[in-house]
Amino acid sequence: MTNGTTYQTTPAGHVDLGDAGLNERIATGMDAVEVLLREELAKGEDFLANKVTHLMNAGGKRFRPMMTLLASQYGPKAGSPDVVKAAAVLETVHLATLYHDDVMDEAELRRGVESANARWDNSVAILAGDILFAHASRIMSELDTHTVGHFAQTFQDLVTGQMRETIGAEGRDPVEHYMDVIREKTAVLIASCGHLGAYHAGASEEHADALMKIGAAIGMIFQIVDDIIDIFSAHEQSGKTPGTDLREGVFTLPVLYALEEEGEIGDELRGLLTGPLTEDGDVDRALELLGRSQGRRRALDDVHRYLAEAEAQMDRLPANAATNALRRLAKFTIQRVG
Ligand code: IPE
Ligand code: IPE
Ligand code: MG
Ligand code: MG
Repeated sequence: MTNGTTYQTTPAGHVDLGDAGLNERIATGMDAVEVLLREELAKGEDFLANKVTHLMNAGGKRFRPMMTLLASQYGPKAGSPDVVKAAAVLETVHLATLYHDDVMDEAELRRGVESANARWDNSVAILAGDILFAHASRIMSELDTHTVGHFAQTFQDLVTGQMRETIGAEGRDPVEHYMDVIREKTAVLIASCGHLGAYHAGASEEHADALMKIGAAIGMIFQIVDDIIDIFSAHEQSGKTPGTDLREGVFTLPVLYALEEEGEIGDELRGLLTGPLTEDGDVDRALELLGRSQGRRRALDDVHRYLAEAEAQMDRLPANAATNALRRLAKFTIQRVG
């Protein structure tokens, strides 16, 4: 799953989960998800399919299918065809949100290649995202009404989060607002992976609940880490343009903490960050000031709080190779920031 660029994101299916048998089972499941995605996302007219498969073909970590397959290890039907379908639905919905998110964020780079809005235009990117929801619905129709109902809530939360981010904190505490946004726009989908993977494998309700909460906590970690990367890493690592959030006037956790800082760094940042940054020089200056602030460290403190939450939920699961892998996965998510 490489795309010939310098973009260094490891596909989640190639992560060492610490157990040879489990690595093998997950890799087999990931291959089945890939086959299903390629078959389903290519449906429709060629002029549509080439745009819809653009980001699928560009790479990506496939973190959500991986989480779904891992959660399925707690039931008798681990990795079953229904688990694979659920995993494909989750990646397809994720992909749809990437097309739409890049329009809203005016992003130019995604998964190391031109975003759909940059390569074609906003209308094409929006419509390609829409058709992905059609594909996800078709795959879901082969599952059951519980899955459809669960997804309806997940979609609602996702859009609520993107809307909440778009309208801004409106006088609320900005850090609390940020946490609500990322829970809705990111954590809920990864929580769904935990829930649906367990559910379609026939796992117990107790385990499905723990796995949903683990997904939610890992989702919070995932987005905070992603937001740290947006500020502190080069595009070679993320496959995205650094500073995109700042340019859009979206102030993420490390920025919010830096803005609270007393002294010269905080003062200059407060002067600079009054809205979207349009000048490259201002973005560079803001990135430099953020690098000297406590923003990154304080955001990482929150990451470790969510790691402790995830680990507390892991104690509700049996001590086995899959639980060990979840611990590794949570830590791997943090290691992306180095
Ligand atoms: C990007 O998700 C959007 C966020 C929730 C931060 P990923 O980092 O999982 O993106 P891909 O799938 O690997 O491209
Ligand atoms: C990620 O939003 C969440 C969704 C795509 C729903 P971001 O705007 O933070 O993600 P990146 O950084 O573009 O991947
Ligand atoms: Mg974005
Ligand atoms: Mg966004």
